[in-house]
Amino acid sequence: MMNHENNTEHTKTTMLIFGGTGDLTHRKLIPALYQLEINGFLPEDFKVISIGRRDKSSVEYRSEILESTRKFSSRNFEEESYEEFSKKVSYFKLKFEDAEDYKELKSLLEQSNKGENKENSYLFYLAVSPDYFSEIVHQLENSGIREMDSAWQRLVIEKPFGQDLSSAEKLNASISEVFEEKDIYRIDHYVAKEMIQNTHMLRFQNAIFESIWNRHHINNVQITVLEKEGVGTRGGYYDHTGALRDMVQNHLLQLLAVTAMEPPKSLDADDVRNEKVKVFEKLVPFQPDTLNEQLILGQYSGYKKEDKVSASSQTETLVATKVYIDNERWKGVPFYLLTGKALKNKTAQITIEFKKSSLYGEEKDSEPNILEIKIQPDEGITLHLNVKKPGVVDQMAMVEMDYCQSCLYLFNSPDSYEKLILDALHGDSTLFTRWDELQLTWKYVDAIFSTLGEDRTSYLESYEMESNGPESLDTFIHTGAKKWWYRNREY
Ligand code: BG6
Repeated sequence: MMNHENNTEHTKTTMLIFGGTGDLTHRKLIPALYQLEINGFLPEDFKVISIGRRDKSSVEYRSEILESTRKFSSRNFEEESYEEFSKKVSYFKLKFEDAEDYKELKSLLEQSNKGENKENSYLFYLAVSPDYFSEIVHQLENSGIREMDSAWQRLVIEKPFGQDLSSAEKLNASISEVFEEKDIYRIDHYVAKEMIQNTHMLRFQNAIFESIWNRHHINNVQITVLEKEGVGTRGGYYDHTGALRDMVQNHLLQLLAVTAMEPPKSLDADDVRNEKVKVFEKLVPFQPDTLNEQLILGQYSGYKKEDKVSASSQTETLVATKVYIDNERWKGVPFYLLTGKALKNKTAQITIEFKKSSLYGEEKDSEPNILEIKIQPDEGITLHLNVKKPGVVDQMAMVEMDYCQSCLYLFNSPDSYEKLILDALHGDSTLFTRWDELQLTWKYVDAIFSTLGEDRTSYLESYEMESNGPESLDTFIHTGAKKWWYRNREY
């Protein structure tokens, strides 16, 4: 590929979405692009080419995405501004494995650049099944699109990136034949959630926290990402994936890294990611003899009857796991990770349980200090403190100091996809997963699978839908924590 310095005054940016008719594009990508447009964040000369296998005109496509933009926009929708935005979007029919179609795509791109004296930049967004990642990338190469004169060409890839370390390695080797690591943007949309970005600020810009953010003061950390919905229409994908691969390998381990990492040298993408990698390198691997104390797998009742799910499925829809990090800061502190589907509430948060103050001995009924970083549905930070209840008798009460982000700013935070698309357009890869992060997290999760072996029936506990999950979760949390703190909140 030809590389030139980016001259923003005379550039034209084209985003090509492979999987333009898919669910992700309708629910997330187009609404996010629309929000970026109305907030004036998109580059000046910006076009979207949505690519799909179905036959349809751009006019038809625009009317389809009008509906989804109206429905899924995180904030206000205005008919007028949508009109302006939709002019930037067109549809192109292409079969992912058809070389001729890519040649046509190349001609279309060349045609639309004709007569313009601008540098072109291309963002290839793969919102397709992972089976097509490698195919599409090589077709971009073989068709000559990668050779087109351009300021930059970047590749954005959705998860899952592989099914295990070995398939991820194969996929990465194949993609790396066409794109350099610096131009590959692997999405983990949890890292881009507003409160996760805020965690960085909270930890490193507040001396009161950074000085106690360690094993001397923290008893345990709880990372809980729970969903109310079951697998819905995604049974086919999910039944081959399960919660460990779908959520733990990526989102939950990323949240763990953000919570546990050392302060990076700078906010530069590589400095930040180097620190995350150091955390992953120090994860204590699962041992067969501690498996029962470290892992709970659950499956909601009724899961086996879901569409495209095997009637004898052993796929876990819930995981609770206890993770240790073998470094100076965290040695001995359990990180409890819990994620599951078809539970009572949709809620995600990171909870820090501090060590109890023992100044007056155990008989004083104090609670540990708790810091909650609330990711969703509410966004904010709550600190729980012990105070004296007013009155003549000495009694303790626990109170909350609450920062409600959505109340203070009176608007919903941007969706993660707005931030991620914008960062990819700006070439900022801080929030995207680097290959070595993926390698280490797959290695960690692979070790769990090999410890479990083929037959997982004895590990799989059933739980009722809309419940708190299997009852064994209570015993599990008491191995190193007072309770599951997220349950204090009823949404
Ligand atoms: C995706 C998983 O990465 O994250 C889904 O594949 C899950 O199974 C989703 O439902 C949860 O994301 P969010 O942002 O809705 O909490």
